[in-house]
Amino acid sequence: MTPDLFRALCGRFTTGVTIITTLDANDNPCGMTANSFASVSLDPPLISVAVDHAATIYPVMRAGSRFTVNILDAHQESLSRRFAEGLDDRFDGVAWQRVNDQVIISGTLAFLRCDKWAEIPAGDHTIFVGQVMSGETRADGTPLVHYRGTYVE
Ligand SMILES: Cc1cc2nc3c(=O)[nH]c(=O)nc-3n(C[C@H](O)[C@H](O)[C@H](O)COP(=O)(O)O)c2cc1C
Repeated sequence: MTPDLFRALCGRFTTGVTIITTLDANDNPCGMTANSFASVSLDPPLISVAVDHAATIYPVMRAGSRFTVNILDAHQESLSRRFAEGLDDRFDGVAWQRVNDQVIISGTLAFLRCDKWAEIPAGDHTIFVGQVMSGETRADGTPLVHYRGTYVE
């Protein structure tokens, strides 16, 4: 298995796009674009996301006990790009709110507030399993969709 073929294979699976957010020890917001989000269990309500060990949010998520999954709307492609670019100032100019020590990005399709439930090392990533404690969704909106390494209508 080559990295190129692995990417090509996995890229045939169409996903939505999320930004995973949390607060660091200094109360600064952290966030990263992620499409590895999946629902895992109904009882208890669990979700998972795989985070690269090289990502700046990784040590923050290891140290912390909560994170939020923000599910992006189609109009938020620029946010998805911004939170995947490695910027230090990625929250500058971004509308977000701090609610119950969680970082909620405005204008999304939905957000899920999670307590960290498990961490499972998996190669160069760690799968963070979160128990969904609360969340909100919108009745309207269109999902941001990712396929074969690009955003599609
Ligand atoms: C559509 C899309 C989905 C991504 N999904 C993930 C993911 O699930 N897990 C991950 O660790 N990185 C994912 N990335 C890559 C990170 O967003 C990117 O490497 C980010 O810059 C890493 O964070 P850092 O810049 O803070 O180190 C994704 C990028 C894009 C564009």
